[in-house]
Amino acid sequence: MTDYASLSKVIDEFVKNHVKKSRYEHSVRVAECAVMLCRKFGLDETKGWFLGIAHDMCKDFDRAELLSLAEKDGMPVYDMEREKPSLFHGRAAAVYLKEVYGVDDRDILEAIAVHVSGAVGMGDYAKILYIADKTEAGRDHLSAEYRKELYALPLDAMMRKVLTDNYGYIKSQGYSIYPGTEKLIQTL
Ligand SMILES: [Fe+2]
Ligand SMILES: [Fe+2]
Repeated sequence: MTDYASLSKVIDEFVKNHVKKSRYEHSVRVAECAVMLCRKFGLDETKGWFLGIAHDMCKDFDRAELLSLAEKDGMPVYDMEREKPSLFHGRAAAVYLKEVYGVDDRDILEAIAVHVSGAVGMGDYAKILYIADKTEAGRDHLSAEYRKELYALPLDAMMRKVLTDNYGYIKSQGYSIYPGTEKLIQTL
């Protein structure tokens, strides 16, 4: 069984050395937010910290590396991902953690793999990571009031709100939206 407190220290070093400084700092803030949410919902805080630290570990890998890692998970590849391989960084990190560090906890691997897209049926750790990634303290378009209301909600309602608000933003900017997003919102 993986000792996530020890592995977090190893991955912390990796992240420091493989992503730009601002992204490392984002990862620490995501970890802090994920710990807060794990505490609120009675989940393992050491796993929450690990998810935050590890989720963007492959984000600055090159296109070829991202593609070859992500393809190993056996999931379908969308056109929008092929056009923009940086969207693979979650799936790539899940494969990397499994292959290089022997992580075999399905909740953890799923949370990291789907943190970019979300997924119908995603588990509680995946919801927490998604929410933490989008609402960590450095996301300064969010007010203290917004966070206070958001973090008081039950987990599914919190996830639905973050997805809906993010979806609205992405649409208004004219960016591509993952095909499953609307369905995911309906299932929460
Ligand atoms: Fe990410
Ligand atoms: Fe992130």
